[in-house]
Amino acid sequence: MRYITLRDLEVSRIGLGAMGMSHGYTGAGTDDAESIRTVHRALELGVTLVDTAEIYGPYTNEELLGRALKGRRDQVVLATKFGLVSHGGDGTWNLDSRPANIRTAVEGSLKRLGTDHIDLYYQHRVDPHTPIEETAGAVAELIAEGKVRAFGLSEAGPDTIRRAHAVQPVTAVQSEYSLWTRGIEDRVLTVLRELNIGLVPFSPLGRGLLTGAVRSTDAFDANDFRRGNPRFTGDNFRHNLALADEVRAVAAEIGATPAQVALAWLLAQGDDIAPIPGTKRVARVEENTAADALTLTAAQLDKLGSLPPAAGATHSEAQARMLER
Ligand SMILES: NC(=O)c1ccc[n+]([C@@H]2O[C@H](COP(=O)([O-])OP(=O)(O)OC[C@H]3O[C@@H](n4cnc5c(N)ncnc54)[C@H](OP(=O)(O)O)[C@@H]3O)[C@@H](O)[C@H]2O)c1
Repeated sequence: MRYITLRDLEVSRIGLGAMGMSHGYTGAGTDDAESIRTVHRALELGVTLVDTAEIYGPYTNEELLGRALKGRRDQVVLATKFGLVSHGGDGTWNLDSRPANIRTAVEGSLKRLGTDHIDLYYQHRVDPHTPIEETAGAVAELIAEGKVRAFGLSEAGPDTIRRAHAVQPVTAVQSEYSLWTRGIEDRVLTVLRELNIGLVPFSPLGRGLLTGAVRSTDAFDANDFRRGNPRFTGDNFRHNLALADEVRAVAAEIGATPAQVALAWLLAQGDDIAPIPGTKRVARVEENTAADALTLTAAQLDKLGSLPPAAGATHSEAQARMLER
């Protein structure tokens, strides 16, 4: 595994997204033992960046990681997120990045994760009712106290990134970025590079679709969020399957898997980019981390880079309202 620096934080080029172990995807929470083995296998393979959030579950994903990382905390760059649970306010899925809420959130996350510090603490979504300067100031205090090592934002727009960075340097922005979601390239990625902020692409496998393993949504659990996601419904889904076929064709040419090709394309976009593919299975973490050793030719990168755009919005309407563009 190779390693890169997100501003001032060294991480494995490929990380591990833990969300699906407890939340959102078919099978979440059904096999914690396999999820924990997956975390352990990831660490053996050199993965250091492990990603969670208090909203995943809520709380159960951090608890799971706390168990998985017992005795191994020092091997990991542990990332979690605040701002989608309003403690003492309206509860889960409510934007709240007020300093008092962050203070409450961090104590809960530290406890569940079984640690005295969070390596990378992200604001999960920009809170339009709280000036970002106040949020950044609250995280700066946590950094001064040693509870947090680095500050991150997720799905923030260029202006918010600049304003936050002026108060407390931002180490990384985590936003959706993959072969079928490239909206951040023009405005956000440019600012990140200007300010020397790393990028952590989430859903780098297109929520599973780019791996070729999803050919139908029939077997999705009733609460799998993809059931209501525009990219996985109706004609959009049929159109998007054709994109997955294109990725599969490149993979077949080079004896790799589509997941590996999707990740290798992201790695080729810059050494300031560390994707966090999500899986709860040992075999898939082995497959995904092996993408670090895959180099695509210029022709393959070109072909992948000029795939037609995906059909359908990346988020449901309610979720999209929380994205800052
Ligand atoms: N900041 C944010 O707002 C935000 C939003 C979404 C996600 N995230 C973070 O980003 C991480 C990754 O995103 P994601 O999990 O949404 O999407 P993803 O990594 O694009 O895809 C995950 C899906 O792909 C499947 N999968 C993984 N490897 C595979 C392989 N080699 N072959 C076939 N299928 C495979 C997983 O199933 P199995 O688990 O069954 O293998 C899961 O259904 C999350 O875990 C989370 O930590 C952050």
